[in-house]
Amino acid sequence: MPTTLASEQQEKMLSSARAAFKNAHAPYSNFRVGATILTERGNLYSGCNVENASYGLTICAERNAIFAAVAAEGTDMRIVAVAVATEKDGPCAPCGACRQVIFEFGPDALVMFKGQSGTEQMAITKLLPEGFRL
Ligand code: THU
Repeated sequence: MPTTLASEQQEKMLSSARAAFKNAHAPYSNFRVGATILTERGNLYSGCNVENASYGLTICAERNAIFAAVAAEGTDMRIVAVAVATEKDGPCAPCGACRQVIFEFGPDALVMFKGQSGTEQMAITKLLPEGFRL
């Protein structure tokens, strides 16, 4: 697993994530998010957040992208990297639930997101120390 991604690969993933937020269903928060996963097989999968009038049913962009990757590649799908993009300026690190789901399929994954001071590239184990395993 890489400790950083080549800048060309970073840009490709971030631009896929930006394209993905255009399909977000976020009428309640107006906070549209897109995410793109790079798998070990070299495939990209994207997702957007999908909200619901029953707010708790909302699913984040990251989990939708990961679940699409599992549906396409199966249970041995492994995440190399995740990119997150939002419509609005400002930071958006993955939520705690998404960090645990990233960890399940990518214990060595790199996560790209906008932090307090620009784009960050951070290991999932830094974002989620002591991730849960059964
Ligand atoms: N959201 C994501 O899709 N990903 C994140 O990393 C943080 C939050 C969504 C969930 C909800 O639809 C909206 O952003 C506001 O919380």
